[in-house]
Amino acid sequence: MSESTIGIIVNGATGRMGYRQHLVRSLLAIRDQGGVVTKDGTRQQIELMIIGRNEVTLKELADKHGIEHYTTDLDAALADPRWTIYFDALVTQARVKGIKKAIAAGKHVYTEKPTAESSEEAFELARLAAEAGIKNGVVHDKLYLPGLQKLKRLIESGFFGQILSVRGEFGYWVFEGDWQAAQRPSWNYRSEDGGGIIVDMFPHWNYVFENLFGRVESVYARTATHIPTRVGEDGEPYTATADDAAYGVFDLEGGIVAQVNSSWVVRVDRKELVEFQVDGTLGSAVVGLFGAKIQPRNATPRPTWNPDLAETHDYTADWLEVPVNDVFENGFKTQWEQFLLHVIEDAPHEFDFLAGARGVRLAEAGLESNATGRRIDLPAN
Ligand SMILES: NC(=O)c1ccc[n+]([C@@H]2O[C@H](COP(=O)([O-])OP(=O)(O)OC[C@H]3O[C@@H](n4cnc5c(N)ncnc54)[C@H](O)[C@@H]3O)[C@@H](O)[C@H]2O)c1
Repeated sequence: MSESTIGIIVNGATGRMGYRQHLVRSLLAIRDQGGVVTKDGTRQQIELMIIGRNEVTLKELADKHGIEHYTTDLDAALADPRWTIYFDALVTQARVKGIKKAIAAGKHVYTEKPTAESSEEAFELARLAAEAGIKNGVVHDKLYLPGLQKLKRLIESGFFGQILSVRGEFGYWVFEGDWQAAQRPSWNYRSEDGGGIIVDMFPHWNYVFENLFGRVESVYARTATHIPTRVGEDGEPYTATADDAAYGVFDLEGGIVAQVNSSWVVRVDRKELVEFQVDGTLGSAVVGLFGAKIQPRNATPRPTWNPDLAETHDYTADWLEVPVNDVFENGFKTQWEQFLLHVIEDAPHEFDFLAGARGVRLAEAGLESNATGRRIDLPAN
């Protein structure tokens, strides 16, 4: 087997997502397994250049993981032809600037979502990437979750008959930062810093809908900032200017009605932090990150409404667990491998900047709906 390497600039390697999911769980895992295997059996190894703003932190990280290259100088890294891919996991607000530079430098670009703060900028990035002829991709991690993979298989098998509706519950309690530290960076709660749950989660819901059910035709959303003051990393109180909950109704292609609650202000009474119930004429399913259970039409109980009698039927016992018949790897890693093969040998990877821009557009429409109280239609392109 011959071996060659592909150079990847990892910008934002010290961040929560950049470090844990992308560097450790994906790129270092790919490096440690010897790279990716192309269709002719050749193994292509990767080499990393990590970028951040603090040289000391970068050096520590590089030493810890045996990474030879690190720098705080993005321009110099982009000017070096050794690096063919630019990856961006910066705070959303800093993303467009870095990606534009990378496109101008002729790099292929892979990025965290959302690709930009406005759909105008997101579509501009898609246009610039197309004009430059570079490969481009956006993280679509939720589609790679075992629970959603099982759901995809159920849909493709025809299990549901006609799909009628989708109901999603996403969220958990994010501590306010006063008596326990918050589990998310404080910029998430300030709209002036690119925060807000709509901007964070609607891009995910857009690609989940698009790829499993059908495109989003319109959205109605009501947002809330339930916790108006939080305490930041510095221990000081700050005003939460961004939405921390969003209650959305989405009309999907084919007449499917989807409702999703997204909240950082909800205490969990479900098996998993995200759950979707899908109801169809022939059957229903409830899926989470990992699990999936089904109830076919011919095993559906016959509830009757009687407020005079205490409930004796255990409805949760009527469902059948979908077995785990596949080996699921970390979804971020799987998508990284697909993107690498897309760059190396033009293997398919459909989750491009245009898909990312449609996600940003849905977030924007959700915010517009909240501001105007109207349902917002989305274009078909
Ligand atoms: N795919 C997912 O499931 C998922 C989950 C959470 C976050 N995200 C996305 O990942 C991105 C990063 O989120 P995070 O939670 O890791 O945030 P974070 O605050 O932990 O990390 C952000 C990174 O950006 C750097 N940074 C901050 N301000 C900067 C600036 N002005 N210029 C250059 N660099 C700057 C920080 O040093 C850090 O490396 C966001 O765009 C977010 O929407 C995706």
